[in-house]
Amino acid sequence: MKILFDGFAAHERTADLAIWPVFKGAGWKRIPDDTLLFVSSAEHFEGGFGEWVVLPTLNRFKARKFAVMGMGEKSAFDADAMRRLGANIIKRAKETKAKTLRISFSLSSFGELSVREAGQALAEGMILAGYGFHSYHAKNAEKAKNQSVVSVTIAELSASDQIKFSRGCADAEAVCSGVLIARDLVNTPSMDMFPLAMAEAATRVADRSKRISIKILDRSRMERMKMQAALSVARGSEHEPVGVHMVYKPAGKAKKRIVIVGKAVTFDSGGLSIKPADGMMTMKMDMAGGASVIGLFRALADIDVDAEVHGIFLAVENMPSGNAYRPGDVVRAMNGTTIEILNTDAEGRVVLADALCYAQTLEPDAIIDLATLTGACIVALGEDIAGLMTNDRKLADRILAAADESGEPIWELPMYTPYEEHVKSRIADIKNIGARGQAGTIAGAMFLKHFVGSTPWVHLDIAGPAYTERESRPDLPAGATGFGVRTLVRYLQGL
Ligand code: BES
Ligand code: MN
Ligand code: ZN
Repeated sequence: MKILFDGFAAHERTADLAIWPVFKGAGWKRIPDDTLLFVSSAEHFEGGFGEWVVLPTLNRFKARKFAVMGMGEKSAFDADAMRRLGANIIKRAKETKAKTLRISFSLSSFGELSVREAGQALAEGMILAGYGFHSYHAKNAEKAKNQSVVSVTIAELSASDQIKFSRGCADAEAVCSGVLIARDLVNTPSMDMFPLAMAEAATRVADRSKRISIKILDRSRMERMKMQAALSVARGSEHEPVGVHMVYKPAGKAKKRIVIVGKAVTFDSGGLSIKPADGMMTMKMDMAGGASVIGLFRALADIDVDAEVHGIFLAVENMPSGNAYRPGDVVRAMNGTTIEILNTDAEGRVVLADALCYAQTLEPDAIIDLATLTGACIVALGEDIAGLMTNDRKLADRILAAADESGEPIWELPMYTPYEEHVKSRIADIKNIGARGQAGTIAGAMFLKHFVGSTPWVHLDIAGPAYTERESRPDLPAGATGFGVRTLVRYLQGL
């Protein structure tokens, strides 16, 4: 999808569809300039958010179809509303089979948003809504591609606003390239997205920028580093485990060193504590944390930040077999902490234990992990919202602010100290499950806390928002969402 600009009115140049977004109650009846012809066909239109009316067209106009789209109350219009507007526009374009669009804000404005913010939010909504995953369609892939929007022209902008708006669009394109790559990786079936395939995807991303380097840790390297916890999860699988460590170095002196850790279980069968069939259907998505790490670095190939950024994931597959790790086993993580395995389906934390230990050896200013860790988080916060747990108020507030600006909903759960008991084990230092039937998400965080020392740390449980079986809003099509990439980019840009 190309985003173009010109100074002509929306209807003055050819397009399949010309759209005027308008606020509620504003002077939309002047559309396009001199005619009242449209009023009758749109008498029920009030400009409420998402409302939309296709208007009859005049022969002398060059656009094939005309529409007004409601932006809602001007006072409530913010970046997220602009993002949703962009997404709605693409959705309507698909419905009307329009491939070339012209959009004019001449009857409205960008509300409180700066021109650049408006450009970024609109473009994000459009790009995220335009995503489709067609790699596995034998028959309809071409058809789907042919139906997608080819160009969007932002009409009637002044020359100086064109420059500002297009800067915003470029920001959006860079961030979204990361989001979309994360979506592709997560949507790809586990038969093709196994641990080594993830390492290859990360390598391809690193190759895009001279500021990004990558180190691959093979099984023997992981053994020498004493990552017994992560390796024990991998033992039941025919697929080799692999560690990935990406590094972004800024042009100037780095102000901070930040490590992002992702859970990358390329398929989670539950292992010997095997999941029921229904619970396994979406478990190709259990590497979404690692995919977000790769997506972040894809964005960093096009966006400059001042921090030194490390991205780490240990990719494994969790399978039952004669050699799989067992309930009752005790395994030792890289920092010496012993873990009693009581449920092989609580594998994410066991892998993250070693990934977080490794992260700590880099002596970072902050560690942020993203993990599809607990079904309990979906029970607590629903499908849309990620859980945040932390040992550092300031870092958490920064992440929450970045999430808010990006439109990714994240809510905090408490690290209530007495619940540390929930992961204490009788025969080892800790166990990999919490107390039966309560606070499962917090128990996950209490477990992970043993592997971050005193480093400021934020844990994001993205079990809900990483994947949606049904489209919940038009910029989040069914399947993988690429959750986390946008928040991380904002956070790093703000350092
Ligand atoms: N990958 C799952 C968590 C999950 C469930 C993510 C549903 C997305 C959707 C994780 O490895 C898991 O199985 N967790 C267990 C932990 C329990 C055994 C303590 C869970 O949530 O049931
Ligand atoms: Mn599991
Ligand atoms: Zn899992």
